[in-house]
Amino acid sequence: MTLLRRPLHLVIALAVVLLAAPLAPARTLDAIRKSGTIVIATEGQFAPFNYFEGSKLTGFEVDVADAVAAKMGLKVDWKTIGFDALLAGLNQDRWDMVIASHGITDERAKAVTFADPHYCSGGVIVSKGGTLKTAADLAGKTVAVQTGTTYLDNVKKVAGVKEVKTFPQDTDARGALLTGRVDAWVTDRFAGKAALEANPAGGLKTGGFLFVERIAAAVAKGNTPLVTEIDKALAAIMADGTYAKISEKWFKEDIRCK
Ligand code: ARG
Repeated sequence: MTLLRRPLHLVIALAVVLLAAPLAPARTLDAIRKSGTIVIATEGQFAPFNYFEGSKLTGFEVDVADAVAAKMGLKVDWKTIGFDALLAGLNQDRWDMVIASHGITDERAKAVTFADPHYCSGGVIVSKGGTLKTAADLAGKTVAVQTGTTYLDNVKKVAGVKEVKTFPQDTDARGALLTGRVDAWVTDRFAGKAALEANPAGGLKTGGFLFVERIAAAVAKGNTPLVTEIDKALAAIMADGTYAKISEKWFKEDIRCK
């Protein structure tokens, strides 16, 4: 009796598991093309890469992604959400692509598929008056970083740091430094620079790189047809001067990986 019934139980158990699985298949390139619109998610709190000017989403990455989509012949439906939820949303089919200054890491590459990098940068140490410059200077200090970032991963590796304080947004980590609740803030080189320029009275100065990284957009794990088209479009805007123009506009230099 059990011999006959067990296979059925297994089939039912498997069906339940499959139905309950949170993973939906990523939208195919064909489905995206048919709809004429690619859904792109970003954080919107990481100037000058992706942020709001009033109610308008703007920034270097918004311009780059808009140009990539235009090359692909697609309109963009922009979504903004907390940094933590961005990559997970890809495999839940909530959006087709994420562009939010994610450094390419082995850990993330297990969960999503990265496009070719759209810029190269790194994490820098920011402190009041610029007294903290190197990893060694962080010994005995309290450091603020955004949750879920490579800044957190890399600060954790520094020996002797007294405490790492995490914040949901990079701007909150900056705020902690400005109000003297921490000794240092580790953030992107260009984000740090923009924050200092926006608030010269704050007295913040950047020290050296803690690490360098290649920054890329991502799609759902294994969505190769989509990532191939994104890479082609990115290469095209890098070749035809569009990328250089966007980069000059935001940074007065070309920040592509050399
Ligand atoms: N580059 C860092 C990382 O890969 C930080 C990215 C933060 N991006 C953001 N939109 N807040 O984790």
